Amino acid sequence: MIYFDNGSTSFPKAPGVGEAMANLLATSAFNINRGGYAGAYRVADMVLDTRELVCQLLDWDDPKNVAFSGNITQSLNMLLKGYLKKGDHVVVSSLEHNAVMRPLNQLAELGVSFDAARAEVDGRLPIERVEALIRPETKMVVLTHASNVCGTVLPIEEAAALCRARGLHFVIDAAQTAGVLPLSMKKLGASAIAFTGHKGLLGPQGIGGMLISDDFAKELEPLISGGTGSVSDTEFMPAFLPDRFESGTMNLPGVAGLNAALQYVLKTGTAAIYEAEMALSGRFLAGARALPGVRIVGVDGLEGRVSTVSLDFTPAGLDNAAVAFRLDSEHGVMTRCGMHCAPRAHKTLGTFPQGTVRFAFGHTNTAEEVDICLAALTGMIKGS
Ligand SMILES: Cc1ncc(COP(=O)(O)O)c(C=O)c1O
Repeated sequence: MIYFDNGSTSFPKAPGVGEAMANLLATSAFNINRGGYAGAYRVADMVLDTRELVCQLLDWDDPKNVAFSGNITQSLNMLLKGYLKKGDHVVVSSLEHNAVMRPLNQLAELGVSFDAARAEVDGRLPIERVEALIRPETKMVVLTHASNVCGTVLPIEEAAALCRARGLHFVIDAAQTAGVLPLSMKKLGASAIAFTGHKGLLGPQGIGGMLISDDFAKELEPLISGGTGSVSDTEFMPAFLPDRFESGTMNLPGVAGLNAALQYVLKTGTAAIYEAEMALSGRFLAGARALPGVRIVGVDGLEGRVSTVSLDFTPAGLDNAAVAFRLDSEHGVMTRCGMHCAPRAHKTLGTFPQGTVRFAFGHTNTAEEVDICLAALTGMIKGS
């Protein structure tokens, strides 16, 4: 089995993730903020420790600014729907995932408007295109850090500077980059960095969160309200972080798994992870270039991208879904074909409606696995 679907969810997970989750469930599956005994305090300490590990990864000092959720989709819904009101305008890129676009389209029915800055056909986004869309009602810019379709990295440093200069909130979708590319909340001065635990962070599914600035938190209404275990004498949401954005019992086994995953990522180093993944991408891109008629979607090189590579086989006369199916059924290579929850990205990249086959390498994949996949693709192109 060869797993190249790390853009969807990483596999294998970091060493120790499964054990940490099983251990919590077997020995201390207590609730936090809701029990006055040593076991509950130990779990609360583990959760605080995990917030601190997120801070270490995203370069921030105060763990209270880390609020956990079930995944980045929930975080983005909280950040968008908890803030935007009728008459507000938002600028996004044309590469956004439906985790951004679907909440925005729901908000549009309530009178929020948005414009998408169109990226180039290889996914690069000139920052002037974002700037050109800003108008007096614009309140926020939301950008994915890297396209989940083609891996192209978006100019978040420039966008952050632009938002600071224009007094706009800046929200970063770091689904494809947290754990792979450097991210500094301090340097970016962003309003929020949203993350998910199960992709580049190498943790389990069902845990994600957001690192949110104090200023933005003051303006953000909690989308979900309910019990927090704190200030239980009032029927109103606490004003303080992170409780304001963490109603209901959280996925504590998920936090335990994320804790182990973050320890691994921080010990290994995001630079080493990135380098290992990019070596595989470089090898794959070189092989893909030699496949007649196959289009490399996104930047064709290692600059300005993460390891995810998308290929369109339709110019070579092959159906993308059929290629992905044959890779799996005949060669044990797992990829993802189709729209990748980002139809606007495919319209930008010229791959709508046929989609692409996405090869998303993890740092534990091997050169041999890449070669097996390339040989399989060569065979398909030659019609064998
Ligand atoms: C850029 C981007 N944003 C958001 C998401 C949604 O992630 P999740 O399903 O973990 O909420 C994904 C994952 O597919 C993604 O690639």
